[in-house]
Amino acid sequence: MVTLKIDGREVQAEEGKTILEVARENNIYIPSLCYHEEVTPYGACRLCLVEVTGNGRERLVVSCLYEVADGLKVKTNSERIAANRQMIMELLLARCPNNQAIQELARQLGVEKTSFKLDDNQCMLCALCVRVCQEVVGVSAISLVNRGVDRALATPFYEPSDVCIGCGSCAYVCPVDAIRFEDIGDTRYIYWPNNKMEFKLKKCKTCGNYWAPEKELEYIRKQANLPADAFDNCPDCRE
Ligand code: FES
Repeated sequence: MVTLKIDGREVQAEEGKTILEVARENNIYIPSLCYHEEVTPYGACRLCLVEVTGNGRERLVVSCLYEVADGLKVKTNSERIAANRQMIMELLLARCPNNQAIQELARQLGVEKTSFKLDDNQCMLCALCVRVCQEVVGVSAISLVNRGVDRALATPFYEPSDVCIGCGSCAYVCPVDAIRFEDIGDTRYIYWPNNKMEFKLKKCKTCGNYWAPEKELEYIRKQANLPADAFDNCPDCRE
């Protein structure tokens, strides 16, 4: 265990944990968009900036990547942090000016408008969906492609992905609702910022409702080594 101070409060933490993890464990709020406890941190949004003092040096670090250490002093809010977060928020707002989640967080951080040139994206390129697809679902159907201003979230070559199972985890986890899906009749539609895919839904043998993508159920069935009829019935009709 290590002992550190966050905003003047002494806290104990397990070695190897990041400042953001320890702050959350201690109910200390640090804004973040691209962090999720189930996947490897990526440090994309930079909103979780904090100020640390260690070895006599004071500097800004990204708290979702920076590990705690004995004697570390952390400030989660200061004029310097606020000014930097506002600048980051202005950049995000310029990239995604019509995204409601980003507008809302900008307001919370005291940013009403941006001085940067407006673009028109919904995706902020945090790659949380990419990490969840790869690390949690285990299929790697989407990734960030291209460089610079052309950087984008997409399936390989913007074509329908062979490996996507239609589970919708990418949509569930997106912090700014840039990905969505809907089930209409016997089909699930997933809409990414640059392309979309359709998946046939499985019909329940008992009630006749369409309830989950066939590809997703088949994937789970194989992973868990379940019998061929394991998902013939929907959860409501299962005994
Ligand atoms: S939460 Fe740390 S960089 Fe996004």
